[in-house]
Amino acid sequence: MENKTIELVQESFKKVVPIADKAAEIFYGKLFEKDPSLKPLFKGDIKDQGKKLMSMIGTAVSGLNNLDALVPVVQNLGKGHAGYGVEDKHYDTVGSALLETLEAGLGEAFTAEVKDAWTEVYTLLATTMKDAANSLPLEKGLTERKKRLVQSSFTKVAPIADTAAEIFYNKLFELDPSLKPLFKGDIKEQGAKLMSMIGTAVNGLDNLDAIVPAVQNLGRNHVDYGVKDEHYNTVGTALIYTLEKGLGDSFTADVKDAWTEVYTLLATVMKEAANQVESTTTANKPWWKIW
Ligand code: HEM
Ligand code: HEM
Repeated sequence: MENKTIELVQESFKKVVPIADKAAEIFYGKLFEKDPSLKPLFKGDIKDQGKKLMSMIGTAVSGLNNLDALVPVVQNLGKGHAGYGVEDKHYDTVGSALLETLEAGLGEAFTAEVKDAWTEVYTLLATTMKDAANSLPLEKGLTERKKRLVQSSFTKVAPIADTAAEIFYNKLFELDPSLKPLFKGDIKEQGAKLMSMIGTAVNGLDNLDAIVPAVQNLGRNHVDYGVKDEHYNTVGTALIYTLEKGLGDSFTADVKDAWTEVYTLLATVMKEAANQVESTTTANKPWWKIW
């Protein structure tokens, strides 16, 4: 990167700093106008978010003179963004919202030269972030990025857990009405337990070894509830459907893949534990000895 480019970006950013709040407001206005489906990705207070964004841009801009130090920070930021559900194509939308914001904030000082310089800097940051996000699967096994996607999308389902549970059971019984009699307890309580178990599992993804025994236990209990292997597919379908309804536009193909993988993993552990119960304890025993 040429010194001239760095200088143009740093000098023009100095003029944005005093109007940072306003700039952040313009930025989000433009961003959500371009792509309203990005709105649900931002969970935090949009004002705080705007401050963080401006301060990060500030850090990046002042770090341009020492790219070696800046790159790891930006790579980390990119990995974090994968967890927010940010996809490669979103970087173009953010880039054009940013340039338009600079244009609105700088007025005549936003010359063609300044625009080119910012385009070059943004492209460098975005490329570094995207590369880091896409390297996650290679770096830490394909589940790392998926874990983050599942965890971040679940935080959006948790506040609407009651509704989600309702959607889930309606869908489940629509898919297979014969499952209804298996559920003896109050369906609302059941829904709350299901969501809390999924929450535990989702939080436990970072330390799978620790949650496996609990999931195995759950699988063994499910045998007593009358649950059969083939029911896991139906429940999986109802769960994915629920997530799709609950997450709306933020239920991207990536998020869907990630959930499918996580559900398959949990279901496999449960089924295996259940089948072991049958072969070791219940096989060859009459029912009155089992009970
Ligand atoms: C060069 C480009 C970008 C920079 C410098 C940047 C900077 C930041 C910073 C500093 C944060 C605060 C949280 C953290 O440290 O992880 C953040 C969060 C976030 N960013 Fe970005 N970002 C960029 C691109 C994008 C893109 C393309 C999207 C896609 C829409 C996006 C969406 C988000 C979301 C959803 C959050 C979390 C907000 C929340 O939790 O409410 N960012 N970003
Ligand atoms: C990853 C998959 C699943 C998870 C995380 C899960 C979670 C739970 C939890 C936490 C409970 C509360 C009781 C307990 O702690 O033992 C429960 C009960 C139950 N689950 Fe599951 N479950 C899963 C799959 C299934 C499947 C495939 C079925 C088949 C229809 C099913 C049917 C039931 C039934 C019938 C009960 C007892 C309800 C009652 O007593 O009324 N579950 N499940």
